[in-house]
Amino acid sequence: MKIFNTKQEIKAYLTSLKEKNKTIGFVPTMGALHQGHLSLITKAKKKNDLVVVSIFVNPTQFNNQEDLITYPKTIENDTKLLESVSCDVLFFPSVAEIYAENITSENFDFDGLEHQMEGKFREGHFNGVGTIVKTLFEIVTPDKAYFGQKDFQQLQIIKKMVKKNNLPVKIKGCPIFREEDGLAMSSRNTRLSLEHRAAAPFIFKTLKKVRKKFGTENATKITEWVENQFKKHPLLNLEYFTIADEKTLETIKNKESNNKYRAFIAVFAGEIRLIDNIQLKK
Ligand code: PAJ
Repeated sequence: MKIFNTKQEIKAYLTSLKEKNKTIGFVPTMGALHQGHLSLITKAKKKNDLVVVSIFVNPTQFNNQEDLITYPKTIENDTKLLESVSCDVLFFPSVAEIYAENITSENFDFDGLEHQMEGKFREGHFNGVGTIVKTLFEIVTPDKAYFGQKDFQQLQIIKKMVKKNNLPVKIKGCPIFREEDGLAMSSRNTRLSLEHRAAAPFIFKTLKKVRKKFGTENATKITEWVENQFKKHPLLNLEYFTIADEKTLETIKNKESNNKYRAFIAVFAGEIRLIDNIQLKK
């Protein structure tokens, strides 16, 4: 695996490969890699001549400084994991390399997607995500880029950005990879206390019950039921639960049409914020 720390070096390398008509699959990450990330890379490997992974803990998308400082950094292990799935190129730049002295975000209009769910609780988060993903796309010039449905709102926002700006890249959404007990894999899971780790599968268990209820109960009633489940829970604090349209991400009260719907949840397990979602049957 080739490792680059500067824009100039990786651009030069990738330009030489593009001249040979090689296709590039790209998986942007913030490191602390786990099987969820690797599933994206494996998918990208199957569909492209070479796969580029970036590891960059992007300061502009953190609304909470404590979360940024404590975000796990495990570059040695990450490098081994990347080698194990035959990743071709790792881009691992410094903050200065990406932002120079100006650590700020561009202001995006994602047609309202940014005001729902995570957008309500994480001020400026999606401007930060848009800024870094756009910058990385300019550097890597991928044919296809892979994003997890774990961060479904992020995936929809990136698709919107690509469409609105006519960026020459195809965005591929990939399924959520889970632990055996159902907890969605996340870099933040390693920061859970033993007690909170043991409690966390309750989140996906609840989402599976929601999926069942969606056949017979309306969204408002299901939401009240979920809020009650968490009120009773001694360790997990619900930040939000909502059933929303997959396209607009707007909360629904009732199934209104043949659209696709998804249930979204954010929960605090102690200090650690966990998110998850599940697609609902029509
Ligand atoms: P990060 O949280 O490291 O995630 C990198 C990619 O892996 C994202 O597309 C995310 O949705 C996906 N992913 C994480 N956990 C997953 C799981 N359990 N199953 C499937 N996919 C999973 O998301 C980011 O980084 C950043 O916001 C980034 C896009 C890199 C911009 O900084």
